[in-house]
Amino acid sequence: MTSASAPAKKTVKKTSDAKTSSKKSTTPKNTAAAKPASIQFSAKVIDPVKHATNALVVAAYEGLKLSPSASSIDAADAHQLTALLKREGFQGKAGQSILLLNPQGIAAERLLILGFGGLKDGSVSVENYRRAVQKISEALKPTPSSDVTIALGEITVTDQDINWQARQIAENLGQLEYRADSLKSKPAEISLQLKKVVLGTAKDQVPNATKGLILGQAIAKGVNLARNLGDLPGNICTPTYLAEQAKLLAKGQAKLSVDVLEEKQMKELGMGSFLSVAAGSEQPAKLIVLEYKGGNKKDAPVALVGKGITFDTGGISLKPGPAMDEMKYDMCGAASVLGSFRTLVELQLPINVVGVIATTENMPSGAATKPGDIVTSMAGLTIEILNTDAEGRLVLCDALTYTERFKPKAVVDIATLTGACVIALGNHATGLFSNNDDLAKSLLKAGEESADRAWQLPLWDDYQKQLDSNFADIANIGGREAGSVTAACFLSRFAKKFAWAHLDIAGTAWRSGGAKGATGRPVPLLVQYLLNQA
Ligand code: BES
Ligand code: MN
Ligand code: ZN
Repeated sequence: MTSASAPAKKTVKKTSDAKTSSKKSTTPKNTAAAKPASIQFSAKVIDPVKHATNALVVAAYEGLKLSPSASSIDAADAHQLTALLKREGFQGKAGQSILLLNPQGIAAERLLILGFGGLKDGSVSVENYRRAVQKISEALKPTPSSDVTIALGEITVTDQDINWQARQIAENLGQLEYRADSLKSKPAEISLQLKKVVLGTAKDQVPNATKGLILGQAIAKGVNLARNLGDLPGNICTPTYLAEQAKLLAKGQAKLSVDVLEEKQMKELGMGSFLSVAAGSEQPAKLIVLEYKGGNKKDAPVALVGKGITFDTGGISLKPGPAMDEMKYDMCGAASVLGSFRTLVELQLPINVVGVIATTENMPSGAATKPGDIVTSMAGLTIEILNTDAEGRLVLCDALTYTERFKPKAVVDIATLTGACVIALGNHATGLFSNNDDLAKSLLKAGEESADRAWQLPLWDDYQKQLDSNFADIANIGGREAGSVTAACFLSRFAKKFAWAHLDIAGTAWRSGGAKGATGRPVPLLVQYLLNQA
């Protein structure tokens, strides 16, 4: 049996660009991370008729009821607005929208009317509000607006205040700060280049609305970082690149420190499981450790543990070719940890949070781990690797054991762990597993509140025996049945010393097909969970 089992590496000097380091690099530069645009959000009292802006957004409700702002525009226009909406069949249903160019009687250059659906006791439902807000960027995308004014402060939403409304707007429109075309030699021609967003509210709402805008934009910045890192290809976003991004996050931040453990240190720690995944790769593996200290010294931290496989070929248990490119997204757990820390530093939240990212490629090579190999994890448990494509659990188990040293009050790991989770839940819900009911409840609640939902699956002992091995303490796969559950069962063996939850984001972290791209999930859920702790 190999102990801390990574076989000796070839003598290739490994840098972030291992094979081309002496020549001019042909790898394109990611400019999105270098200079992210920032939208300026503010809340103030506006006159919808006289306010000069590139685009003004107003509300209508089912049955063609106009909001106060929309009514005053209608009155300024000899009621031509109502006539026009009728003619176009606009009824104010949730999700409906109509964009008018060169509207008459008002100072705005464009007028976007959004449908918010039916009113119940004078209020709009949370779902309908979110749907309408999502329409803003969609509807304005073809226009060259840079300054947008949103006269929606007058809406009441069931059980929510202006802070919440403002947050939705900034969380949504703030995502326009990220563009996925940074690696095209000529950026795609997108007209909308938002620079300034004004939320029109009543005077006494301004302070609360401003807070919501700040919170929403901070979440958007975290989501954008997670999306950017996810979308970057494996030849740019290597373990070394992720480590550099973590250090960049901590630069000039008094509350955040970052430490990067190299393979040599991991070997000394006995991380034979993690290193067995890195064995086939030319890129050096890294264990990235982030510590955010915003709370009291003696407060136990929450720990976020991310799977950071920057490319998952499957290793010797090689994956089939179709859609294999999407395995660049196998570091989205790590990206969600970095994204959450981005939001944490932006908001300077008064809590303690630890981040642990286990990052490597999973590659086949002469040095790669083979099916049947047995390795020893940091916890001392021996593992029979029956399938080298079940590598996420192999890196996470050692990261979980490492996390024990922080004496965390809760540990949440985030991983694109199993294809089976995509089959079970599709791309709507993240799979949640936990050894602690209170923690599970808090995460489910945070998911509901942030519209980034998770759904709990069982972690019963009944499933554990699927991981029995004839030759080692545990096997790394549990057969075809309940693949997501047995993956979580594997992790649970290494999470006995703390309250722990596992988020399987294989279905939610990115979209496939024509709209291929990282979603930034579950940053909203994680940030909401941390906010609820603060
Ligand atoms: N990263 C994959 C999981 C994955 C696959 C996520 C497809 C999203 C889409 C993971 O490392 C993996 O390969 N899991 C295997 C486990 C199996 C070998 C037990 C899987 O799901 O097929
Ligand atoms: Mn895999
Ligand atoms: Zn994987």
